[in-house]
Amino acid sequence: MFLGVNVDHVATVRQARGTAYPDPVEAACLAAAAGAHGITVHLREDRRHIQDADVWAMRTGQPLPLNLEMGNSPEIVEIALNVLPDEVCLVPEKRQELTTEGGLDVVAQYEALENSCCRFRDAGIEVSLFIDPDPVQIEAAISLRVPLIELHTGTFCERQGQERQACLRELVRAAEQAHAAGIQVNAGHGLNLENLRDLFPVPHLHTLNIGHSLIARALMVGMTAATKEMLDLMSEY
Ligand code: PXP
Repeated sequence: MFLGVNVDHVATVRQARGTAYPDPVEAACLAAAAGAHGITVHLREDRRHIQDADVWAMRTGQPLPLNLEMGNSPEIVEIALNVLPDEVCLVPEKRQELTTEGGLDVVAQYEALENSCCRFRDAGIEVSLFIDPDPVQIEAAISLRVPLIELHTGTFCERQGQERQACLRELVRAAEQAHAAGIQVNAGHGLNLENLRDLFPVPHLHTLNIGHSLIARALMVGMTAATKEMLDLMSEY
C-alpha cells in the first residue's frame, strides 16, 4: 500500500499570515525522505491554501510523483495542462466547503469529465476520479476508461459502530467492482492513525492520500516522524 501525502495544510498555515514559511515543498521533501510514495496538492479555485507557484515548485522541487487534486473547471484544467503533473484527481469543489464534500457525480457530469479526461490522457497525465463507493458512479468511471479512482472515505471516517461497518461494506464492494474492471483503487479523506485500521478489510487498495491528520500530527512530532508513523501503520494492511 502506497502513501500519498497531501501537503495543502502546510500552505494553510503559511496563508494564515502571508509569510513565506512554512514551505509545502520542504514538507514534501521531508515526507519523501521518510518514505512517502507521492505528493498531493489541491489547487482550489479560491486559492485558500496551495497557490499556483506552489504547484510549479512541486514539479521540480521535490522528488516524488505529483498528484494534482482539482475541480473540473476550465481555468484549473488549463493550469494542469501547463504544469503536467504525473496525475490529476478530479474532485467536486464548492466555494463554501471546509474540505471536499463527497465524491464527483460522474453520471451527471459525464460529458464535461469525458472531455477533460481525454485532454489529460492526450497530455500523458493519469486521471483519477474521486468518487463515493456507489456502484452507479463506479460504472460511469469504468465507462470513462479512467486508469484509477480514489474512493471517498470521508463518510466512513465520520461514522462509528454499525454505521461505519455499513460504509465499510460499500467500500469493499466498490473496490471489488473497480478492480474487476482493471481500475487501480486509491482511497482518501478523513483518514488518521485511529480510523485507518478499520479500513483494512477493503481489498485492492493501492494508494492512500492522507493530508490533514498527518500534517496536524507533524506539528507535534515533525514531518518525518508523522510520515513514518503512518507508513508503519499502513504496513499492517
Ligand atoms: N483525497 C481527496 C480527493 C481530497 O479532496 C482530500 C482533501 O483534500 C484528501 C484525499 C485528503 O483528505 P484529508 O486531508 O482529510 O486527509
